[in-house]
Amino acid sequence: MAQETTLLNPRFYTTDFDEMDKIDVTPVRAEWDKLIAQMRSDPNRGHFKKTAEWDADWENMDPALRVEFIDFLVSSCTAEFSGCVLYKEMKRRGNNPDICELFNYMARDEARHAGFINDALREAGVAVNLGFLTKAKKYTYFRPKFIYYATYLSEKIGYARYITIFRHLEAHPEHRFHPIFKWFREWCNDEFSHGEAFALLMKTDPKLTTSFGNKLWIRFFLTAVYSTMWVRDHARPEFHKALGVDIDWYDQEVFRKTSAIARQIFPVEIDIDHPRWIPNLRRMNAAFLAMDAAKRRGGIGGAIGKFTAGARAMAAFAALYTIPVIKHDLPASVRMEPVY
Ligand SMILES: [Fe+2]
Ligand SMILES: [Fe+2]
Repeated sequence: MAQETTLLNPRFYTTDFDEMDKIDVTPVRAEWDKLIAQMRSDPNRGHFKKTAEWDADWENMDPALRVEFIDFLVSSCTAEFSGCVLYKEMKRRGNNPDICELFNYMARDEARHAGFINDALREAGVAVNLGFLTKAKKYTYFRPKFIYYATYLSEKIGYARYITIFRHLEAHPEHRFHPIFKWFREWCNDEFSHGEAFALLMKTDPKLTTSFGNKLWIRFFLTAVYSTMWVRDHARPEFHKALGVDIDWYDQEVFRKTSAIARQIFPVEIDIDHPRWIPNLRRMNAAFLAMDAAKRRGGIGGAIGKFTAGARAMAAFAALYTIPVIKHDLPASVRMEPVY
């Protein structure tokens, strides 16, 4: 499951590490040093350990929920580990002390996150073989600037996803069907800091976020990351039902938080209240379901079905991508604190 590379599964990335090694953080030095000092102090050193509060009960879990929850954990573990592999590689190949120190801390955090999820999976009799995955999974090459856009977004969206679930379960503890959610608050602060680091990296080169072409790329990544999340989440109805969460509400809430945070560095923002937004996300989801069904059907009919569903997904994507964006000026200082 973790090894599979599809449009929707978490990917492993590789990039031009030499180019990234050349980044000079001088323009953001003051903010950089503060962030690195905070990461060096390692506030979550003792956090990812099971305590008496860990009361997992896989035996009594509804079987349909169990399937979706395992899928959720495997996908989260793969995503966390994907960050770990990329960050570790950057640290290993780099010579730039600023960059190496940052990526060392981020790899440390992601390894903890992936390991903690894997521990939880082991209790259900499944686990991701991370060593094997490193070798067996396909790697997608992204130019450094695409790594910044994609990774920045996935860190901030990770923060928004974890904190939204955490706050929801704080208010409705009866829906907390597994203890791992109790660990999400401190956890998501790690993701928040990782996102801060990428915001600072982008800030060192204003072109990355202000040129006409790059603004189109940012828009592309926002649309791609948001719509992928929508389709992925809608494939897990039982999981969200157990959490007592309406998926449409949850996804919009995560987009809203992510967009508010991303104002620190992205000059464009998707208008998620636009009348074309949700209907086209639904269209995109329907197209993916049809693609899946066609794949299972196989044969010529399946191939035609896959092609038409693919065309429908692309049309939906184009409709989402062309929604007029909300523009704003970038603040002089990038740094933010996690406040949700
Ligand atoms: Fe993480
Ligand atoms: Fe992270």
